[in-house]
Amino acid sequence: MGIKNNKIKIFCKQKRPLVCLTAYNKHMATIVDPFCDLVLVGDSLAMVLYGETNTNNISLQTMIGHGKSVARGCSKSIVIVDMPKGTYEASAKLALKNAKKILKETGCDGVKLEGGVKISHCIKLLVKNKIPVMAHIGLMPQQVKHPKDYRVKGRFLEEQELIISDLKAVEKAGAFSVVIEAVTEKLANKLTKISKIKTIGIGASKKCDGQILVTEDLLGFFSKNAKFVKKYADISSYISKAVKKFKSDVIKRKFPSKENIY
Ligand code: KIV
Repeated sequence: MGIKNNKIKIFCKQKRPLVCLTAYNKHMATIVDPFCDLVLVGDSLAMVLYGETNTNNISLQTMIGHGKSVARGCSKSIVIVDMPKGTYEASAKLALKNAKKILKETGCDGVKLEGGVKISHCIKLLVKNKIPVMAHIGLMPQQVKHPKDYRVKGRFLEEQELIISDLKAVEKAGAFSVVIEAVTEKLANKLTKISKIKTIGIGASKKCDGQILVTEDLLGFFSKNAKFVKKYADISSYISKAVKKFKSDVIKRKFPSKENIY
């Protein structure tokens, strides 16, 4: 594949399960970086940060801004930026132009593209130009048109075959890794078994080569989450408590105290 990036070479050879999380800014990146193999500047930021109902309307420039910020907070992990919808599917040439812009302006290590067979020609051209590519198959949020499309993939034979073809296509095109989202455990196991590249699961299987979650989901920012999210903290109630205390201190003129004034 001719990848020059050393961190990616190490990632591809890693024997233990790979730890991957999202980050959208330097602060979060600095906290998660020491624990991660890969940090993704996911286009999920459209929903998590900007309150959109899907990931379809985020611009290249917005992803570049967040990519730059995350790159400043990471020293250990590979940093991958999601190419937003509409910036790569039309042609391989467009994909290359935009991927080059992302890497040049952010200093990140590579890009992630959603799709299998349909976009494998884009992956091939990026890889030929030494751009590390992570693919994303199974449930592809950029292709969701209705809320009912957020469903587990691979329950039916025909769908299983399509997803297997997607894996083979992105692998052949030279992707170094692939995110497998919301597929049945049985299919995720099969994909991981036949895959020559690292499979990173989200709502897939513990047998995937690694796992990824949206950091805000695992921290407990939201009351409602997909089944595949495990909450490792309840950060929103922690924030509420702190803000409540601040409010009370302001109202009672306890803040600022001596230590906080000049
Ligand atoms: O956009 C994103 O954050 C993602 C991960 C959840 C895999 O694609």
